[in-house]
Amino acid sequence: MPFSVVILAAGQGKRMHSDLPKVLQPLGGRTLLEHVVATAATLKPDAMYVVYGHGGEQVQKALKHLDVHWVQQAEQLGTGHAVLQAMPQIPDEHAVLVLYGDVPLLRVATLQALLAAATRGELAMLTAKLSDPTGYGRIVRDAEGQVARVVEQKDANAAELRIAEASTGPLACQAGPLRRWLKSLGNDNTQKEYYLPDVVPAAIGEGVLVTAILAADESEVAGVNDRTQLAAAERALRRVRAADLMQRGAILRDPERIDVRGELECGRDVVIDINCIFEGRVKLGHRVHIGPHVLIRDCELGDDTEVYANSVLEGASIGARVRIGPFARLRPGAALAEEVHVGNFVEVKNSRLGAGTKANHLAYLGDAEIGKQVNVGAGTITCNYDGANKHRTVIGDDAFIGSNTSLVAPVTVGAGATIGAGSVISKEAPAGELTLERAQQKTVTGWKRPRRK
Ligand code: UD1
Ligand code: CA
Repeated sequence: MPFSVVILAAGQGKRMHSDLPKVLQPLGGRTLLEHVVATAATLKPDAMYVVYGHGGEQVQKALKHLDVHWVQQAEQLGTGHAVLQAMPQIPDEHAVLVLYGDVPLLRVATLQALLAAATRGELAMLTAKLSDPTGYGRIVRDAEGQVARVVEQKDANAAELRIAEASTGPLACQAGPLRRWLKSLGNDNTQKEYYLPDVVPAAIGEGVLVTAILAADESEVAGVNDRTQLAAAERALRRVRAADLMQRGAILRDPERIDVRGELECGRDVVIDINCIFEGRVKLGHRVHIGPHVLIRDCELGDDTEVYANSVLEGASIGARVRIGPFARLRPGAALAEEVHVGNFVEVKNSRLGAGTKANHLAYLGDAEIGKQVNVGAGTITCNYDGANKHRTVIGDDAFIGSNTSLVAPVTVGAGATIGAGSVISKEAPAGELTLERAQQKTVTGWKRPRRK
């Protein structure tokens, strides 16, 4: 059966106390809305509608890469009213799956179960027995145990508030009847809103079977209304991603202390120590070791490479058997060939380091092309910026750059050249020769220190 997905995202999210519309709040490196759209997209719907309202321009702009139809809800008159805004575009013969933009962690299998029931002509809703259902609508069942209606927290009496089974938002049924039920909704409730869950009594009135699908896991159905719930969802997602990594063979020193805020791909026998953060797309080769407190964003690391504690790597491409850190910083455009060593307090930006090259301590290498087996001494700086433009430094294979050298770009150091420590090199240093720029050392014999009078 063809089907449409409607995602509700028009609410402001007052309980967040934020200038950002709620569905743009970040969770695991994406917005809440992106999570919902991505999960729904895996079902391959015939069309997907996002109902926007509060901060509509901001929402559309932030998510313009999403393949969805945008539907405006000018006034936020409730979730039922929100769905109704998308209905004119949805044909009667479609099934409709309604998702809430603030329920981000649903599983694909759960949504498939909802759709299957809708395809059979039922009204399917996702419920959950919650340890603390505060804030959720409660499922009221009749004497036979059939779902009768949903009562919102704000409309519930004391007995209803004790019901543990909550409505979690998602719902699916056929478009024809849904259109009819939505049009029949009233707003005679404490919030003066048209509630989507009120389609339940309308369906029952027409003899339609209402199926409650009970979610297996509480965290899957968690709604995100405030900062505390956002943090809880983040924790739940962190656990899911850590478990997934371990299932695929990664060794995590502590699965409670890793944050994957993007896509992390690991080879075999990868070891990740505690408190590491992975953002964007990160690919780790076989047997890569990541030390504690490391941040890696958009990088690829070759086999057997080791990253030591407290290093920050962003936009770098790193070969096999490389050693990085502790306390190293790789910035975008850093390309390290195999067996490179980049040690403590070394920063590399937009530079290539050839195989076996070592910069073990305290250096800045920016906009440089460095050959193979080069030794970069401690305190070496590429002076790549003249205040207006950036310039390149080129260093040939097997060069030796003495400690505390300033390389004033544009400048070239030939292959096999040696630079004496403390030099300021602003002209070409020829291949194979010793070049140094330094005042002559002198000794004043017999000189005496002043004495206190
Ligand atoms: C809603 C459900 C409640 C359920 C809970 C699960 C209703 C009336 N209540 O309550 O039964 O237990 O979710 O998380 O449906 N929205 C619009 N337009 C509107 C109002 C809301 O698009 O006019 C969107 C919001 O942006 C949000 C979603 O609908 O993404 C839910 O709205 P929210 O106000 O958070 O409803 P809850 O009080 O959480
Ligand atoms: Ca909500």
